[in-house]
Amino acid sequence: MKVVLSFSGGLDTLVAVRLLQEKYNADVITLTVDVGQNPVALKNAEKKAKQLGVLRHVHIDARKEFVEKYIFRSLKANGLYEGYPLSTALARYPIATKLIKVARKEKADAVAHGCTGKGNDQFRFDTTITTKAPELKIIAPIRETNLDRNQEIEYARKKGITLDAGRLYSIDENLWGRSIEGGALEDPAKIPSEEIYVWTRPSEKTPTKPCIVEMGFKDGVPVTLDGKRMSGLNIITKLNQIAGDYGVGRIELIEDRILGLKARENYEAPAATVLIQAHRALEQLVMTKQELVFKQLVDQIWADLVYSGLWYDPLREDLDAFINSTQRRVTGRIKVELNRGSSRVVARSSPYSLYDEKLVSFEKFGFDQREVTGIIKFHGLQGKLVHKRKVK
Ligand code: ARG
Repeated sequence: MKVVLSFSGGLDTLVAVRLLQEKYNADVITLTVDVGQNPVALKNAEKKAKQLGVLRHVHIDARKEFVEKYIFRSLKANGLYEGYPLSTALARYPIATKLIKVARKEKADAVAHGCTGKGNDQFRFDTTITTKAPELKIIAPIRETNLDRNQEIEYARKKGITLDAGRLYSIDENLWGRSIEGGALEDPAKIPSEEIYVWTRPSEKTPTKPCIVEMGFKDGVPVTLDGKRMSGLNIITKLNQIAGDYGVGRIELIEDRILGLKARENYEAPAATVLIQAHRALEQLVMTKQELVFKQLVDQIWADLVYSGLWYDPLREDLDAFINSTQRRVTGRIKVELNRGSSRVVARSSPYSLYDEKLVSFEKFGFDQREVTGIIKFHGLQGKLVHKRKVK
């Protein structure tokens, strides 16, 4: 049997390779998909796969596609689930899609992943695969053998698999964020140790002077940074650096997982934090109140679908059609100030701005204020009727 395994070189997928070889009698092809994780970790993964005697290792750079097809759609939807910018969730779809592609090319009998039975990632992988490639068998060796983390470490030791020393947490990383869970973080009453953060500085070690970054948007997506035209990939990479240096983007949450479990989650998402903030600020400038109220509902449903593994539900596409239509005026420039771990919008401009200084100015009225007296007479009319009828 030939199996293509989505591989990271972390504990779960290392153990999965051996299990597939020994328990499932499979020839394993390992696949790494670059979605912006640490390049050293990617290189190491390949080395580790080869040490385990896999049939072949395949690597795909999906960063551009990840940005354009997933991250930017999410940004247009201000994608946040309970405050989480969906980084891991979004990346699972291109990874699962590449898994299918490689499996078909290699004429494999099955695809595999290292997800446990507790998390969300299994829903995203399995649902994508069963939707797009129902002919492929899915093997989830960790879930199927019901191993917990300690048993996995024990198994790895028995099989002579070398694990990274001092790996205290489960970490997942891509362009849109870094997630850290497990170990000491599982007690929500305890403050996370500073060592979990790699992309963001603690606020006391950030530069003493605040800085301003300017993002230019076109049709809802960023196209310039500080006035310079850059690819989406470069804007995100650069913003992770700048905002990370200012300690921006640390997120600590109690998150409602798909299974209903409440989980303590920690994220670092500097670029996502600043870009979503800026995008929202621009929407506020160019959209009517009615559009903003309705879009907020749509955004929330969008994020829930994506979080829950339902990227391929037709509703997601329908919502994207609505969202895209709203983005035609989301063009303009937003300035954000970074200072000591926080970010805040300080200036905005757009050719589609609905802000009319002449109308709103205190200095000089742009209309005859006496005309408002007539409008006010009718304001709250229905409430006045209820009061008059003394309805209890
Ligand atoms: N709670 C987040 C999610 O479900 C992050 C999961 C992190 N995954 C991981 N394999 N460490 O999207």
